[in-house]
Amino acid sequence: MFTATKKILQKAHQGNYAIAHFNINNLEIMQGVVQAAENLKAPIILATSEGAIKYAGINFLKDLAYTASELSKVPIALHLDHGQDIEIIRRSIRLGYSSVMIDASHEKFQRNTQLTKRVVSLAHRHNISVEAELGTIGGVEDLVSAKNIIYTDPDKAKEFVEKTGCDFLAVAIGTSHGAYKFHGEVKLRMDILKEIKRKVKLPLVLHGASGVPSAVVKQAEKYGAKLHGVQGVPDTQIKLAVKNGINKINTDTDLRLAFDAGIREIIETKPAVFDPRKMLGPARDAITKVAEQRIKLFGSKGKAGGSR
Ligand code: G3H
Ligand code: 13P
Ligand code: ZN
Repeated sequence: MFTATKKILQKAHQGNYAIAHFNINNLEIMQGVVQAAENLKAPIILATSEGAIKYAGINFLKDLAYTASELSKVPIALHLDHGQDIEIIRRSIRLGYSSVMIDASHEKFQRNTQLTKRVVSLAHRHNISVEAELGTIGGVEDLVSAKNIIYTDPDKAKEFVEKTGCDFLAVAIGTSHGAYKFHGEVKLRMDILKEIKRKVKLPLVLHGASGVPSAVVKQAEKYGAKLHGVQGVPDTQIKLAVKNGINKINTDTDLRLAFDAGIREIIETKPAVFDPRKMLGPARDAITKVAEQRIKLFGSKGKAGGSR
């Protein structure tokens, strides 16, 4: 059984720390992040985007995550990230995901409210919780993109939560998806976050939160990656965001960079190696290392007790 996302996030909400949401696309990424959670006795949320589902198949991803959760001592939830296709949302609910995200943030307020409400009523019938988004997180990834950031309006957030009955709210406070988040100075709108937290008594979610760690970028570049201009959210800003009420933090880009660096190093330094296990094993270890740093930063190390 997966652990209920709501249970893990309510505990985090009460304890004022954040749970790591890690995007998974294959076995090695999944095992890499689960290993980190086990090493640090932390609850985690495994997440599949519609892009991941298109790549690997929802049944494969769900079964990988399910096996991890069955074998693991730490609480593991499975979450649909940026759900936009109602059929994929329905399938995730049927397959027993612990939570789904409905991302209608690109729609006008009223339409976003309507669509979210519809998914809430669908999911709640099966005891599955719902993350929704108000405002726009910037950046571009495979199937998730937005050109501009529109900050979440705290009053609208209150109205949205009351009208939709969603369980967690993703807020736009200046982060964006991908590895190219900022040009120059980084400043998240903590004033907006504080105001939302005051008005909305729910666990809040931060997307586009990867740190793009310079050690990982340097390693990838050393072995041939072209990553000019990448920039992530500094750890200090993440700590402040957690202090001000963020309880779930999504990380995908940092895992991709770690995987990239790990594979490149092997290809470059061991050209005679062609066994996929020897090529992907070190990348999986690199994922574990990055995931451990994220969990420690979010304050969820040691929080696994009693929530399964
Ligand atoms: O927020 C977006 C996630 O990082 C998923 O990206 O659509 O490329 O899988 P993706
Ligand atoms: P990053 O691209 O910053 O890792 O954000 C991932 C994310 O928000 C997934 O929903
Ligand atoms: Zn996201």
